[in-house]
Amino acid sequence: MGNVIRLANSEAVAEKAAEEWSKAAEDAVRHRGAFTIALSGGTTPEALYRLVASEPYQTKLPWNVTHVFFGDERRVPRTDPESNYRMVYETLLKHVPIPPDNIHPMDGVGLMRASMSAYEQQLIRHFKLNRRELPRFDLFLLGMGEDGHTASIFPGTRAVSDLTNMVLVYNVPQLHVERITLTLPVINNSRSICILVVGEQKAQTLRDVLVGSKRTSHLPVQAVDPTDGTLTWLVDEAAASKLDA
Ligand code: 6PG
Repeated sequence: MGNVIRLANSEAVAEKAAEEWSKAAEDAVRHRGAFTIALSGGTTPEALYRLVASEPYQTKLPWNVTHVFFGDERRVPRTDPESNYRMVYETLLKHVPIPPDNIHPMDGVGLMRASMSAYEQQLIRHFKLNRRELPRFDLFLLGMGEDGHTASIFPGTRAVSDLTNMVLVYNVPQLHVERITLTLPVINNSRSICILVVGEQKAQTLRDVLVGSKRTSHLPVQAVDPTDGTLTWLVDEAAASKLDA
């Protein structure tokens, strides 16, 4: 289940997440000379991205050796309001001195197979992977949907049980759209994972996920369980309102 940190409100969640980002970056640069992060989409992390794009983080974080990957993406052009890349670019990337080559967006428009293998190749190149090796992110940011999905791993879909691919593009039947997502083996191979959850509308799901029995096909976020890393839930009081004190 990991460590659950309850914070007063969404601003405090963003502040704590920025501290975790900063600590993970410092540690990664000290030990490996670079920091590699996978970002989440949706609305929750926008406040975090704006925060790390402003002082003191804008100056303090090691942007020149930070590599940004995406945990998932909608199958739309990068200019589309739905695009996670667009959101991350507007809130974060255009405000910080990160080299363009360090940004690794997912393909939102190509053919399914081509988009999958293009991103897989980016991972293989960046992490210098041999056959059957998995990438190891220093920090993997995630969110949770009201239906218990995380990244674009939706309930009842083949993304929940995919243990062979690093990247999956598939049709999400309940949304009638395609999504591209990193898979659970990649997520769970991270050094640290932070799941940000805010808002009263997520309270019942958060309770089911953290306190209820394990039903990963129904609640995919329950399958986030690092093999050799840390898992931290950063939740605001509204989302935590159905958990015991
Ligand atoms: C996405 C995601 C997704 C998201 C949750 C929560 O691209 O939508 O990465 O998994 O984190 O749906 O979204 P909200 O933060 O908007 O509630």
